[in-house]
Amino acid sequence: MELFFLLFLLASLSSLSDPALGIRLPDPIRDRPLRAPSGPVKVAVFALGSFWRSEASFGCLPGVVRTSVGYSGGSKPNPEYRNLGDHAECVMVEYDPNLIQFKQLLDVFWASHDSRQVFGQGPDVGDQYRSIIFTNGTLEARLAAASKEREQTKSRSSIVTTQILQIGIFHPAESEHQKFELKRNRFLMQLIGNMPEDELVSSTLAAKLNGYAAELCSPETQKKIDARIGDILKNGWPVLRNI
Ligand SMILES: *[C@@H]1O[C@H](CO)[C@@H](O)[C@H](O)[C@H]1NC(C)=O
Repeated sequence: MELFFLLFLLASLSSLSDPALGIRLPDPIRDRPLRAPSGPVKVAVFALGSFWRSEASFGCLPGVVRTSVGYSGGSKPNPEYRNLGDHAECVMVEYDPNLIQFKQLLDVFWASHDSRQVFGQGPDVGDQYRSIIFTNGTLEARLAAASKEREQTKSRSSIVTTQILQIGIFHPAESEHQKFELKRNRFLMQLIGNMPEDELVSSTLAAKLNGYAAELCSPETQKKIDARIGDILKNGWPVLRNI
């Protein structure tokens, strides 16, 4: 990440002071899937606190095709960010089951939040931040229950609060909440040609960079993306299309 900031600084400085270096704003690009899934993608939905961070927690995983944030787990029709009723903030993860399994997503779920905190996550207090695994079918329900039991076994001094619910309606959140971590990083947004909102939601690249922006990629992936960005800055644009 230090390298990244150094490069950012370098890019900002040189675009101000030395146009001869050839750094210019890129043209918008069409995103292409990093690798086309070999079969149909599967869908998983989790609630684990603020959905800004939840989306970033899953975006960088190999095999994750798309991520988006929304509301689920309640009954209120048409939930909104400031008025979501009994819903929880959720992330929807679309993944290629040939590359990553529900079981591995569960591992990331447990590792990415404190399932024992009652009524919130960290400083975010309220029912909308509760912990939920949504399952589709008996196999997923069994895997979820087994993983929760394993998690509880790690310590008996407090209760794992996570609910396991059957997957239901997922209400997509307002666009300003999609890829939130990426969008507040102007450098990365420029690097992908200021991809428009509708593409940000469906882009695999944007999902990965959203994780990268939040520093939630594995060290290996983080390094790989650092290197790609380094290459691009060294060679001038074009824009990052692929990782
Ligand atoms: C549940 O799984 C079935 C079969 O795998 C699939 O057709 C369906 O779309 C899934 N439901 C949801 C809400 O993801």
